[in-house]
Amino acid sequence: MSIQVTRVDESQRKPIPSDDAQLGFGRHFSDHMFLLDYNPQQEWHHPRIVPYAPLSLDPACMVLHYGQEVFEGLKAYHGVDGGVRLFRYRDNLARMNRSARRMCMPTFDEELVAQALRQLVLLERAWIPRTEGCALYIRPNMIGTDPFLGVRSASSFLFYIIVGPVGAYYPEGFNPVSIYVSSEHVRAVRGGIGEAKTAGNYAASLYGQMEAKKKGYTQVLWLDGIEHRYIEEVGTMNMFFVIGDEAITSPLTGSILPGVTRDSVLAILKAWGHKVSERQLAIDEVVAAAEKGTLREAFGTGTAAVISPVGNFFHKGKTYRVADGKTGPLSQKLYEHILAIQYGKEPDPYGWVERIDL
Ligand code: COI
Repeated sequence: MSIQVTRVDESQRKPIPSDDAQLGFGRHFSDHMFLLDYNPQQEWHHPRIVPYAPLSLDPACMVLHYGQEVFEGLKAYHGVDGGVRLFRYRDNLARMNRSARRMCMPTFDEELVAQALRQLVLLERAWIPRTEGCALYIRPNMIGTDPFLGVRSASSFLFYIIVGPVGAYYPEGFNPVSIYVSSEHVRAVRGGIGEAKTAGNYAASLYGQMEAKKKGYTQVLWLDGIEHRYIEEVGTMNMFFVIGDEAITSPLTGSILPGVTRDSVLAILKAWGHKVSERQLAIDEVVAAAEKGTLREAFGTGTAAVISPVGNFFHKGKTYRVADGKTGPLSQKLYEHILAIQYGKEPDPYGWVERIDL
């Protein structure tokens, strides 16, 4: 399938933000987007890059009522040599297809979408920020579009990709965030949709997040939905705790997102010979370690968040400081190493980075 390209008229081009320090996250969108349609007769068809514009949707369209949607988040980087790099993007597309299966949506041809994604990024090359720590964020999305109010899976779908320049996800930047361990609410349960990257999981997190924010915390750390005891994730990132010499992250048991950055950190730590475990970790063990002084560091991992150190966490009426409220040495080393690979400053021994402008 060839991808049709309709370029935006020069007079309609938007100004590209000039100050990378002011980018924030998810506020700016470029001049073009990619669209692809699905219906049962033609399956996926009509791939096209068109000027960025509002979508026209029937008010009865199913995604607006029952949330049949999956998405991804990934980034393109302006390398130190001027090259354009993508990081593990094929893993994101494969995960999107796994999410689609879970949400009863049709899977797409990953080669076609990979090609569209590269083409869109190169067309929008001027939008990729030059500052390290900033990137072009890529948001593929798929929605059910039938105008129908019965509860069933949609039969027609729209796949699209939008892109825009971003800086750090959290206002703190690469500085320790504070997290609120929720004992009241849960994000997902095993057997549910927690491991799919779908809107419902994020909707489920909003109330707890609002409460946490009111109390002065950046994010919520979710515990398991049954015992409210085991660490799950932070909604926008997976979590690692360093207790003694062991780095621990929750296993992929179905209710947390299988993060690409989580997987990268596991691989890097193993390559460095660091002791690392994917195991169930009770919040009581974290609290006990904090009290004993053996909780060395805690950090989140995610595409948007990269490595996000945790400076303190609140649990059942008490706040615990981590690494003296500062960025721990392992968080710092991981952050620098991952960025060095993504921006082409260091060789990529893992084969994660693809330069797409050659
Ligand atoms: C990402 O890390 O890219 C995410 O999708 C998390 C969040 C911004 C929804």
